[in-house]
Amino acid sequence: MASYDFYTGIDRTQTASVKWGLTKDIFGSDDLLPMWVADMDFQPPVEVKQAMEERLNHGIYGYTFAPPSVGKSIQAWLENLHTWTVNLSWILYSPGVVPSISTAIQAYTNPGDKIILQSPIYTPFFEMIEKNDRIVLNNQLINKENRFEIDFISFEQQLKDGAKLFLLCNPHNPGGRVWTEDELRKLGNLCLKYNCLILSDEIHSDLVYRSYKHVPLCSIDEKFKDIVITCIAPSKTFNLAGLQASAVIIPSDELRDQFKAQQGKQGFFTLNTFGIIGMEAAYRFGHQWLDELLSYLDENVNIATTYITENIPALSVMKPEGTYLLWIDCRSLSLTDDKIKESLIQKGKLALEPGNKYGPGGEGYVRMNIACSRENLMDGLLRLRRAFT
Ligand SMILES: Cc1ncc(COP(=O)(O)O)c(C=O)c1O
Repeated sequence: MASYDFYTGIDRTQTASVKWGLTKDIFGSDDLLPMWVADMDFQPPVEVKQAMEERLNHGIYGYTFAPPSVGKSIQAWLENLHTWTVNLSWILYSPGVVPSISTAIQAYTNPGDKIILQSPIYTPFFEMIEKNDRIVLNNQLINKENRFEIDFISFEQQLKDGAKLFLLCNPHNPGGRVWTEDELRKLGNLCLKYNCLILSDEIHSDLVYRSYKHVPLCSIDEKFKDIVITCIAPSKTFNLAGLQASAVIIPSDELRDQFKAQQGKQGFFTLNTFGIIGMEAAYRFGHQWLDELLSYLDENVNIATTYITENIPALSVMKPEGTYLLWIDCRSLSLTDDKIKESLIQKGKLALEPGNKYGPGGEGYVRMNIACSRENLMDGLLRLRRAFT
């Protein structure tokens, strides 16, 4: 029997939520339903709130370190959910995965170095490379029968061209591919061959639907421990992005020391008090909650996909293997991304991320976040239909 209620909406206006409070600034209108930012409209497991309340009531919020119990909760989570055995000493903390990507770029590469990513991809992958004065090598994903695949030939060429670092997104945002062990092994072996490090962003790894399995890249082969830096976080899984707490797992002593040294240069010392408390409680108590969340999200994905197929046949959805983000193909409308956005705003009153924001290969798509109440999902789908019919 389900014990958590994901069906009933909770008002998030007046909470300085980026999704609900900045829609007017970003999309220019305040009567839009926001289904853009990747966070969920749900409360986390009740134990997270209880742990934070207990700490809140103490009343003193001085500098706080992450005690070993936090690392142990991460260790147990990774072992139970992903069959990955991690030493406590491998775990570092960071305020976010995007900050970790930037730190890794600074720690392991120099200005002018080449870094591989695979577009369409979460925009900060491009931004962190470019803002750090490194060069993007884009191994654009291949859309084969509405499913992303990796171009290994071009990937190997980019490694031959001297790429120093590869930013992998697994599961992939957008498109929701959960890369298979075979695909990951191939990527890892090629990077070993050409001496290229891999930052594996596994922030969406707990949000994987039942017929698929997330495989942590680093767990596949002993040798990968020498080249892989893995980022995980409770922020997507448990909707805790506002706590700004994440972990970086680096088995190699040398790579870990380099990462730590770079964090030191940035003045990073510790996470915020509630990030530490929330992260431990989520990983310790969140299994049942996550099980129920995934069933609910799976239903939302099916409802949205069926609705779009039956009512907006010009659009088609890439079936997500993981993540709560639908990648919707609008190319048969033959509209530019600006026109798609305009129709969504003017006619649909709906705020969605336009696909060209994710780089080459994203043009003509939109990304829709379906981690919301059933009522808002249905409202969003009606608005999507209104935008394009
Ligand atoms: C692939 C990916 N990485 C990182 C992030 C953001 O991570 P953080 O908020 O920890 O910086 C997101 C958020 O949507 C994401 O989709």
